[in-house]
Amino acid sequence: MSELQVQREVDEFVASTPKSKALQDEAAQYLPGGSSRGTAYFAPYPTFVDHAKGHHVYDVDGNGYLDFMINATTHVMGHAHPDIVAALQEQAERGNSFSGPTEAQVRLAKNLCERVPSLETVRFTNSGTEGTMMAIRGARAFTGKHRIAKFEGGYHGSHEYVSVSVRPPADALGPDATTPVPEHPGQPPSVSDDVITMPFNDLEACERIIRENKDELACVIMEAVSSSFGYLPADVDFLRGIREITEELGIVLIFDEVQSFRVSAGGAQEMMGVIPDMTTFGKIIGGGMPVGAWGGRRDIMALFDPTEGAPLAHAGTFNANPMTMVAGEVVMNHLTPEVYERMNALGETLRAKLRAVFDELEVPAQVTGVASLFGIHFTDEEIVDYRSTLTGDGDMTKALFTGLLNEGILIQTGGAGALNVLTTDAEVDALVDGVRKVVTRVRR
Ligand SMILES: Cc1ncc(COP(=O)(O)O)c(C=O)c1O
Repeated sequence: MSELQVQREVDEFVASTPKSKALQDEAAQYLPGGSSRGTAYFAPYPTFVDHAKGHHVYDVDGNGYLDFMINATTHVMGHAHPDIVAALQEQAERGNSFSGPTEAQVRLAKNLCERVPSLETVRFTNSGTEGTMMAIRGARAFTGKHRIAKFEGGYHGSHEYVSVSVRPPADALGPDATTPVPEHPGQPPSVSDDVITMPFNDLEACERIIRENKDELACVIMEAVSSSFGYLPADVDFLRGIREITEELGIVLIFDEVQSFRVSAGGAQEMMGVIPDMTTFGKIIGGGMPVGAWGGRRDIMALFDPTEGAPLAHAGTFNANPMTMVAGEVVMNHLTPEVYERMNALGETLRAKLRAVFDELEVPAQVTGVASLFGIHFTDEEIVDYRSTLTGDGDMTKALFTGLLNEGILIQTGGAGALNVLTTDAEVDALVDGVRKVVTRVRR
């Protein structure tokens, strides 16, 4: 794979997106790099979206893309689903946010508590970032301890205490995963003192680290299905082991299900049969509106209970706003067991077909993922943790992403993506054919 081949794909993209280029130039005058969101930017510039409908998103130049990015897995019912649009229209006419609670928040909270095994009570936020921040705050207050443990390569939003060893460059890595690497310059050294990092899927190392730090460790925060590793499910024995040690030592186990909640009605915890103390949410539960949530054990969540004096304050002007609540409710009601079954079976088909294409083309690649989620890594090394993801060929991933744009297909820049309820065999085959074409073209 040479830079030249990546450049050819980029040149083709530039030729078909002049209006996006003009908007990027204008945007760059007012927004740093023309952007307000790290994951929405890609070089040389992102396509500016005009509108989206169903499985497709359309840019300002009139290009249509079959969308497997779906706003980072959010649009599980596709874009602008008529039921969501109707619920939002109706709510907008009745007022879009109030200082008082609404019935809609009770309905969505009830729905979530009934379907998620760990959820006794829940509170809403406006982002997954706030959800993980509040879950950690709750764990610290409940245990009276200050340290937290996360996994090397794990992403839990952008607040300070999870901005450690998220995407550490290869040359910053210590001999093992336990060296915390600050995500940005100027991070207070106290953060690296308070955050312990651990290697994913390595129970022996984790058990040693957790036991060594047990007297100061408030919580372990992790994804049971790791988004950053291409939706890699943790080894079930590893997950069970982490549950057992944390339970034994009175350390709060937090599952970040901001992305993985879409794998089954009860999320990854239900699918894998391992129940944490606390869970965080985002993405699909807001029907495309800004959202986050955290919840879990009643005794821990009681720390936020205003009728009990609420030792922990949690305000937020738009928390549980009714636009988000009604849109989320439509999604939750739509996702019946049959819908999951169909969508997840198509995910299985997709992953098998992608593996077959890479075999056919004799390209070293790993296809990860579970249920309706997939990830592609150009390496012959098995993906088990952050370090194994670093063995992937980054130029090839960039060529695939840009080449697929040129084929009218949108995936995540890192080579991962998600299906939605509108996906059929036709969209799966379109993606598989697109991958075959791009890989064949860029390797030539
Ligand atoms: C696993 C995980 N946790 C937390 C977050 C943060 O959510 P938000 O972007 O809504 O702040 C994300 C966002 O992608 C995520 O994937």
